[in-house]
Amino acid sequence: MILKYTYGNPFNTEAVVTALDPAEGAPAYGSLSLEKGFSFTYKMSPADIVYGLGEAVRGINKRGHLYTSECADIPDHTEDLTSMYAAHNFLVVDGIKTFGLFFDYPAKMTFDIGYTRQDELTVTCESADLDLYVIDGENAYDIVKQFRKIIGRSYIPPKFAFGFGQSRWGYTTAEDFKNVVKQYRENHIPMDMLYMDIDYMEGYKDFTVNKENFPDFKAFVDEMKAQDIHLIPIIDAGVKIEDGYDVYEEGVKNNYFCKREDGSNFAAAVWPGRTHFPDVLNKDARAWFGGKYETLISQGIDGFWNDMNEPSIFYSDEGMAEFKEFMQMYLNDESGQIPFFAVQWKVGTLANSGEDYKRFYHNVNGQMVRHDKVHNLFGYNMTRAAGEAFEKICPDRRILMFSRSSYIGMHRYGGIWTGDNKSWWSHILLNLKMMPSLNMCGFLYTGADLGGFGANTTRDLVLRWLALGVFTPLMRNHSAIRTRDQECYQFEHVEDFRHVVGVRYRLIPYLYSEYMKAALNDDMYFKPLAFDYPDDKMARQVEDQLILGNEIMIAPVYTQNADGRYVYLPEEMKFIKFMPDGTIYEEILPQGHHYVKIALNEVPLFIKKGKCVPIVDAAESVEQIDKNTMQYIGYENAVYDLYEDDGISRI
Ligand code: GLC
Repeated sequence: MILKYTYGNPFNTEAVVTALDPAEGAPAYGSLSLEKGFSFTYKMSPADIVYGLGEAVRGINKRGHLYTSECADIPDHTEDLTSMYAAHNFLVVDGIKTFGLFFDYPAKMTFDIGYTRQDELTVTCESADLDLYVIDGENAYDIVKQFRKIIGRSYIPPKFAFGFGQSRWGYTTAEDFKNVVKQYRENHIPMDMLYMDIDYMEGYKDFTVNKENFPDFKAFVDEMKAQDIHLIPIIDAGVKIEDGYDVYEEGVKNNYFCKREDGSNFAAAVWPGRTHFPDVLNKDARAWFGGKYETLISQGIDGFWNDMNEPSIFYSDEGMAEFKEFMQMYLNDESGQIPFFAVQWKVGTLANSGEDYKRFYHNVNGQMVRHDKVHNLFGYNMTRAAGEAFEKICPDRRILMFSRSSYIGMHRYGGIWTGDNKSWWSHILLNLKMMPSLNMCGFLYTGADLGGFGANTTRDLVLRWLALGVFTPLMRNHSAIRTRDQECYQFEHVEDFRHVVGVRYRLIPYLYSEYMKAALNDDMYFKPLAFDYPDDKMARQVEDQLILGNEIMIAPVYTQNADGRYVYLPEEMKFIKFMPDGTIYEEILPQGHHYVKIALNEVPLFIKKGKCVPIVDAAESVEQIDKNTMQYIGYENAVYDLYEDDGISRI
């Protein structure tokens, strides 16, 4: 049962798609205060687990940290971070009392989950204008499923998006891209997608392609398609200010950009230099911006990633003017009153400044709404712009789409990747922990930059991370410019990479089938163990293993130099290892704790008692998977219900 409590005059985020009548009285859990903004407090008992919050640092159990929903471009995903690129305000408290909470509020919100007081959950925001959904159910899993029903069906990508993708910030010319494909194909490492980061554009201008580097872009796209490679270009939020650039000129002419209070177009510097932000909260501007994707779709492109859409700001005109003024003072300061660290601090406050988010406005149905009041909806609506346009441009087929920034509701239009992680071992584990939390919030098509985006990676880190990525719907190796090359062919014994990525392709019929079941039934693809074994006290503690679909459990190795790992089995399971020689190791292990050996070039999984999983022979692209090679692994006489479709028609 879901009760909706409305306070003040909430902004309609359109996160929830089911109309619910406002409930009377006060929520059955916790206590509320509307005196200074909004505050909800609940006293947690020691055994309570708090699930949710989607994209966030720390554990599957969110207790013991302070989190803020305040979409931000922060590339250092350290343990003390409070906000990432997304705002996913959904929680489930599971313990003495079990209930779910969704705070539908588009501005900054704080979740103090046992931070100030270890036993207190406090959720606060500045203005008491929000909808609070309180969900009762049989258990945490049931509550999640009820929540998922009211927020609408999760995005369904084309089947090729379940293949492996290679990306790197820095590929610039057609030759760069062709070389990556050549290396993958020559080394027989499977691949379906090649991502185009900002350097494919003309001066970082959205919906343009550099003519010198791609003299005949359509022919290039076709050439790649002939090798089963889908090119996936990036689209950034900021539109470059440049006379003669059609997107800029149309946006200015039609008032489709975010405005300052005085009606002028707000300007902020991002990759292209000074840009304007499309006002994606204005439905006309949204339709216009979405329509622009057709420029690339008409040249054969069938997938995109939306970036910098928190929106990220390097500095605004106003911020830079203030900075210059300050620098003038510093340079004129002969007495040395202004210390140098003040300059450093000033530089640090230029980017993504809260002040800037108060300097521009959206036109929402004729009402000017200051950006900071709806900040967390920008990435959502940029991706919605694309999603709504795709339905018109390609009514019959699916387009791959995922975004960096998001709010609940965006899960209907695209997936997300988890942003600029690092080549750190701890980030394999963070990747794993975020997956079920994201699924709770509707984001099913998701994954992390495998191998790590920032910092220099190592061969073993890439292999171990790929062995987790084998299972994440979005499986993409991506890295930052000036870091160590980390394409699969850059390391010795390339056959190990061929094998690990190949296992992904062996499992695609199963992974796709489970993804589709999750999407079509508002269910989860990745679950914490406790969701399937609610009465198992040990399963409730497990933070480094996940249930995938209905049949398997995954337990990747995330420790450097380890020859295996400890694993907890809530029931008897069949331990499977895809061995580098193509054989499959199988061993039935009883319920309980085990240390299992897993070499760098082996991919492990566990099949639940009485279940089986379809596998096929490895192929170099999704298109080339031969269904006639399908066989089942797992328990004898088990039956599997395989979901199949053409992988491209809209459903
Ligand atoms: C941002 C993105 C990253 C991309 C880079 C350059 O940092 O998160 O994935 O490579 O911008 O476009």
